[in-house]
Amino acid sequence: DKITLSVIKADIGGWPGHSRVHPQLVETAEEVLSKAVEDGTLIDFYVAYAGDDLQLIMTHKKGVDSPEIHGLAWDAFKAATEVAKELGLYGAGQDLLKDAFSGNVRGMGPGVAEMEITLRKSEPVVTFHMDKTEPGAFNLPIFRMFADPFNTAGLVIDPHMHMGFRFEVWDILKHKRVILNTPEEVYDLLALIGAKSRYVIKRVYPKEGHSISKDEPVAVVSTEKLYEVAGEYVGKDDPVAIVRAQSGLPALGEVLEPFAFPHLVSGWMRGSHNGPVMPVPMHQANPTRFDGPPRVVALGWQISPRGELVGPVDLFDDPAFDYARQKALEITEYMRRHGPFEPHRLPLEDMEYTTLPGVLKRLEERFEDVE
Ligand code: 13P
Ligand code: 13P
Ligand code: MG
Ligand code: MG
Ligand code: MG
Repeated sequence: DKITLSVIKADIGGWPGHSRVHPQLVETAEEVLSKAVEDGTLIDFYVAYAGDDLQLIMTHKKGVDSPEIHGLAWDAFKAATEVAKELGLYGAGQDLLKDAFSGNVRGMGPGVAEMEITLRKSEPVVTFHMDKTEPGAFNLPIFRMFADPFNTAGLVIDPHMHMGFRFEVWDILKHKRVILNTPEEVYDLLALIGAKSRYVIKRVYPKEGHSISKDEPVAVVSTEKLYEVAGEYVGKDDPVAIVRAQSGLPALGEVLEPFAFPHLVSGWMRGSHNGPVMPVPMHQANPTRFDGPPRVVALGWQISPRGELVGPVDLFDDPAFDYARQKALEITEYMRRHGPFEPHRLPLEDMEYTTLPGVLKRLEERFEDVE
């Protein structure tokens, strides 16, 4: 019996600026989703936030890309946008780029990670929610969970993981995808995903012979590119991910371990800077310093046999991650001192907006040839 876990998120107004989601937006979304539980559309839901991004976590039986579920998320975002407008929140409706819903929220602004799964006897799942960064920010941690034996002991010592996994990687510029097998093609995989603004891990699958069918994802990341949809800067595509754990998959602690290293990601102030991603509990996911540094929240769940979400457990609410947070602060301080210089500021082609064309135009006459 299959159930679908859908995480659909959108920035529909910040409080204040791009800092966090106002509680009334959470309440409004909860009201809309409660009705959907009553009428049988949803099995269960939880509304969370990460920075200024409202997060709908839902279980149901409608499969992925369901017009009914995406329409429901759209309605919840629309209703919350009305509240955001009443409160005068910043960028109310920011991520709702289209006026009318047309069956699927993909390409309309919101970010989506969803998977249809056959529930195991026990189904531990982690949903990750990032703010002030982009989908490629998940490349390093997802790689380490499913392919790096220095992170995941199970790859070496668990006979059910020893065969490795399959990675589905998207070229988000050319809209193409490729599947690579680990450990055999690990160097090819790294050659691609190290270029994290171009090649992003979309899904991870088991291999043939795993107790989970090889066509069922064990991890999925949202890869929506807002600026491609909107054609202009409308904020970075603050991503979400779903990762299943245990029983032939990384243990919960192996899923979380990559975030003990606050790696550099692009995003932060005006979506135009490199900085560390800081693992935080939800109550600390309110980016303020230079609109950051970027944050990641991890919510832990057991999915009950009926498809209910038993949780969340706020997984980074643990002093074991204090050192990562401290390290992230040191990196924040170090990067900030570069001010408008690369590599703190992103290279020209990756910045979400820039004055350079205007500056160049103004200086055009004053540029002289050099020998
Ligand atoms: P427990 O002995 O606490 O159940 O932990 C088992 C385990 O495999 C932890 O990774
Ligand atoms: P968000 O992508 O979280 O809306 O942030 C945009 C921004 O410009 C922050 O400085
Ligand atoms: Mg915002
Ligand atoms: Mg955001
Ligand atoms: Mg955003």
